[in-house]
This record gives sequence, C-alpha cells and structure tokens, in this order.
Amino acid sequence: MDKLRIVGGKRLSGEIPIGGAKNAALPLMAASLLTDQELTLRHVPRLADIDTMTNLLVQHGVTVTLVGANGKNGNGNGHKRSHGGGMTMRLKADDVGSTVAPYDLVRKMRASVLVLGPLVARHGEAKVSLPGGCAIGTRPIDLHLKGLQELGAEVVLESGYVTARAPKGLTGARVVFPQVSVGATENLLMAASLARGETVLVNAAREPEVADLARCLVAMGAQIEGIGTDQITVRGVERLHAAEHAIVPDRIEAGTYAIAAAITGGDIELLGLDLDLMEAPAKTLSDAGVAVSSTDRGVRVTSGNRRATGVDVMTEPFPGFPTDLQAQMMALMCVADGAAMITETIFENRFMHVPELCRMGANINVHGSSAMVRGVGSLTGAPVMATDLRASVSLVLAGLAAQGETTVNRIYHLDRGYERVEEKLAACGADIERVRG
Ligand code: UD1
Repeated sequence: MDKLRIVGGKRLSGEIPIGGAKNAALPLMAASLLTDQELTLRHVPRLADIDTMTNLLVQHGVTVTLVGANGKNGNGNGHKRSHGGGMTMRLKADDVGSTVAPYDLVRKMRASVLVLGPLVARHGEAKVSLPGGCAIGTRPIDLHLKGLQELGAEVVLESGYVTARAPKGLTGARVVFPQVSVGATENLLMAASLARGETVLVNAAREPEVADLARCLVAMGAQIEGIGTDQITVRGVERLHAAEHAIVPDRIEAGTYAIAAAITGGDIELLGLDLDLMEAPAKTLSDAGVAVSSTDRGVRVTSGNRRATGVDVMTEPFPGFPTDLQAQMMALMCVADGAAMITETIFENRFMHVPELCRMGANINVHGSSAMVRGVGSLTGAPVMATDLRASVSLVLAGLAAQGETTVNRIYHLDRGYERVEEKLAACGADIERVRG
C-alpha cells in the first residue's frame, strides 16, 4: 500500500489549482441516470471515488466516456475563471439494463445511494444495497427513504438491500427534512425533477454542491426554484435532456490547502476558487490571524510566517463551518498559540484523527462531541495512519508542520478525495513524496 513520506518544517509558498468538487461530481454523475441523452461534465477530478461511481453507473448500463484532461481555463458555471483541469466526462444512460446497485460497490462509497432517486424516478424501480456502518458514525439513509416514500415510492428493506418502487411514477409532495442532509436533498431533487406535479423541499441542504446539482438539472430541463436556499421548489417534467455542466470548485480541497499555508507559516494562492464558497473557514482562519483575501485568480492565504492563534470552531451545515474541514482545522490548532474548543455537530465519532495527532505530540482532550486542543510549541514526526479521508489529510498537514519525518500510511483514503496531493504540496516547496508499496 502506498504511503506518504513528509519531512516537516518547510514554509509553503506558491499557487495551487483547485479541482472540481468531488462531492458535486458524484451526484452530478448519478443525475445522468435521469435522461437517455448525453450529460457532459467538465472539471471532473481524478479520484478513486469517481472511479467507484463510474463502475457503479457502468454496471447499471450507462456509457461513460472520458474525453481527457481539460486544463483549459474558463467555465460556464459562474465561478471564477480557471479552476481545475480534471477530466471531461460524457455519460449516456440510454440503455439502463440493471436497476440494482450491488453491495460490493455501495460498501466502498456511501454516495452510491445517490442512484436511488434517479433510478426510481425514471425506471420506476431501484434496488440499492444499504451502505452499512461507516468510519465516521452510523450514517443512516432514513431521510432519503422517507422523502421518496412521500413522493409515492413503496420502500422495502430486505436482506441488506432497499427496494424502492413507483411503477406509475412519482408524485410531487411537500417534504420537510427534520435534519439537514446533503445526500437526501440531492436524491430528492433528482427524483422530484421527473415526478408529476410540484415538490417542495423544506429545510433543504444549502451546500454549494447541492446548488451545483440543481443548476445542472435546470440545464437538463428541470424546473427548480430556490436554488441555494433551504426551501427548494421543483415542478416535475416528463423528461430531461442533454446538457453540459462545469463542476463547482472543491471548497474542501481549497480549505485544506488554505490550512496548509497557515500551518507552515506560508503564502498560497488557491486558483479558481471564489471566496464565497468558503466564507466560514475564511472567517475562522482570519480570526486565527491568517490573512485570507480574494484575488483576480482565486483566493490568497497568507500567514506572514506567524503562528496561528487558537479559535473555537463548531461544525454546522453550510454556510457554517464544514465538518469536512474539522480535522484539518484541528491540526492547525495543535500548533496555535492558546487553546481551541472544536465541536463536531454533524457526525458522531469524527475524532479518529485525535489519537494520531497526540502521537505526534498534540495536546487534545475529547469530551463527547467537543475536543479541547491546547497548542504546543511543535509537533514531532511519526508514522501515523487514519481510517477516513479528512482525518488522513489532517495528518499530512500535521506532518508538514512537524519536526522530522512523518509517514502517513494507508493513503488510499487520501486518494479517494485529493487529486495529486503530494504534487500540489511539493510544487509549493513541501518535502513530500509518495512511497509506492
Ligand atoms: C455529504 C458529503 C460529506 C459531508 C456531509 C456533511 C458527499 C458525497 N458527502 O455526506 O463529505 O461530510 O455531506 O456535510 O457529498 N443523516 C441521517 N439520515 C439520513 C441522512 C443523513 O440521520 O438519511 C445524518 C447523518 O448521519 C449525519 C447528518 O445527517 O449525521 C448529515 O449527513 P448528510 O448531510 O446526509 O451527509 P452525506 O450526504 O452522507
């Protein structure tokens, strides 16, 4: 298994191109199941999760073609200039042979459940393996299922699979989410696009990736109002059609590299990012003494070679501080001046990085869903590993700041969500290499 070897202590400076968002690309790929015409996605990142979704769609009968690198600038989604590169992907679901999403693929990636809404809406039936437990908590899909039932689907749980049936099609309804869920909002948005009549999603997720999906659905012919708000109205249409869509930049990748600049006393420009995609993390960083500003080409993060100051952080649904940056921010707080209380409100059990950070010399005490982090003078390199994507990258960040050598093991987690992480960091002066194994 590949590892990353990092020698800490280098001040990072330079620029990093931000790719298309993984968490937007996955539902957008699933949206291809809503039409028999071609969906073209630009800025698709090269990631293991994208391969998993590709395999899932291919086994449903979707033709997926990669048109290759598209390093060219410019995109059509209203976002800044030149993010990304990545791939252009063409998906055509004109011959869906199977509406079953098997266990072997779903267990690899929870986002596989996003095929449920589109399949049941267009084909009247879908059978999807339950994703099961996961490293960051139990993560049920009850909200997805309840919403589909409200749209008239009959839902049965059997032998580890959920089957949703609506042979006569779905019917629009008012769906009130008791809790904000990104995935359930996305599944329902896709399903409602082909339902009869009007659907209103109340307490919908406002994440930029949800808005990106909604914009793509509109380009495919869907009628959606309230995009980017917590109340989304969808008037169902009979069929959707071909469209081309450029994926929104990855605010979590960007936030991670912003913290890389902060934790090394560095200065990095994040190319292609709009500051409004990461207002809460930018505010937290500036409260910690790190300058974050908008530039012509993206966002610049400058720490002026100073240590950060401890700040409290609480994760919340967008536009609050994202849970997907909690581990990275904790790494920064480990070497900040003063203390920081970090509270996780989205997922239980999302502190798996804590024992590993402590092995590198961090001073962290966890009490329930809060972690008290007392900044230390410096961390020391160590062999570490993590069982989740964001936890893994927090250890990379800690390694960049630590004295001596850190080896991050099991980096297949990193490869699920970060494209060429070691190349992007090395280009800014980090001493980091992938050791193949
Ligand atoms: C998405 C992101 C993930 C991010 C998370 C929260 C993708 C592919 N993944 O995950 O990176 O960390 O949003 O921003 O976009 N819940 C239920 N029942 C459900 C659904 C969710 O109880 O049916 C709970 C979850 O356990 C969790 C909370 O709701 O506690 C939020 O989860 P949700 O927003 O659905 O996360 P995902 O869509 O899985």
